[in-house]
Amino acid sequence: MQKSTAIANSNIAIIKYWGKRDERLILPTNNSISFTMDEQLSTTTTVEFDSALKQDEAILDGKIADEKEYERVSNFLNVVRARAKIKLFAKVVSNNTFPKAAGLASSASGFAALAAAASKAVGLDYSMKDISILARLGSGSATRSVYGGAVEWQKGSASDGNDSYAVQLSPASNWKHLRNIIAIVDAEKKKVSSRAGMAETVKTSKRFSSRLEAVGKRLEIVRSAIKDNNFESMADIIMEDSDDMHACMADTIPPIVYMDETSNKIKKAVRALNESEKIAAYTFDAGPNANIYTTNPNEVKSMLKEINGIKKIIECKIGEGIRFSEKHLFY
Ligand code: DP6
Repeated sequence: MQKSTAIANSNIAIIKYWGKRDERLILPTNNSISFTMDEQLSTTTTVEFDSALKQDEAILDGKIADEKEYERVSNFLNVVRARAKIKLFAKVVSNNTFPKAAGLASSASGFAALAAAASKAVGLDYSMKDISILARLGSGSATRSVYGGAVEWQKGSASDGNDSYAVQLSPASNWKHLRNIIAIVDAEKKKVSSRAGMAETVKTSKRFSSRLEAVGKRLEIVRSAIKDNNFESMADIIMEDSDDMHACMADTIPPIVYMDETSNKIKKAVRALNESEKIAAYTFDAGPNANIYTTNPNEVKSMLKEINGIKKIIECKIGEGIRFSEKHLFY
């Protein structure tokens, strides 16, 4: 069968996904909105289904996948095999341009690239919408990495998940003035995975239901700001939604704390920067690293230089969605 290679970039949400209504089908409790990042946060994946293989093979960043990674990849390939009605095993080789599980959402680019490469390799003629639905079954945030620019994952209401996919709200070309300055505070693998953490929040947080009510209004404000290409009018909402998600994490039993002292210093410094003019908005995922969306990257970078505990700074542009390549990772 044909070999197929796909590239997908990661995305960082500005209205967060934190909670599932169906854990098996990865159906979320609320819509979420993100920006897709540039090539600095991307995954390239080559897939080939091959009758000579006795089991799936997965090589991630040059190493044979560990047990957990292998299971996740292989379970995902089972979905692809079922859809294509084939039994062949596959070889998967995947390279990230950034550290895995550093709170930089590598599962987003990882499963988006895998969904695109595997569906093409198996001969399924999938649209971007189909790839978005398939990617969702690997990881929720991957649903959004299919498109570039600003993207909304519509939670849908169907029990089979067929209306739970992403749509592009605005292409990357409209956001040339926007950057995400990522401050790496800790590049270690996170202690509580997003998957386990959000399941606990849904089960035990009393605050979670009020989050779901508040998200509706935030989505409206952010959609309209995106339509008007107006970062300033959504900056406060972006920070509010991140704070709200982390408050729900803290309200979980037992509490989940991803942010550390350095993260909190960064939050404070961004608030101070915004006092004269709204130029920045922080958002934190399931880890202590800060994502600071900004229309003035130089000011944000000089602000970050004053804060101790930051290991690395990455300046990301708003990037494109999935693309296919003829440059395969193995021959
Ligand atoms: C905090 O997509 O990693 O980054 O669907 O269980 O694979 P699973 O979770 P995942 O969760 C990401 C959560 C988040 C917020 C977001 O990206 O919206």
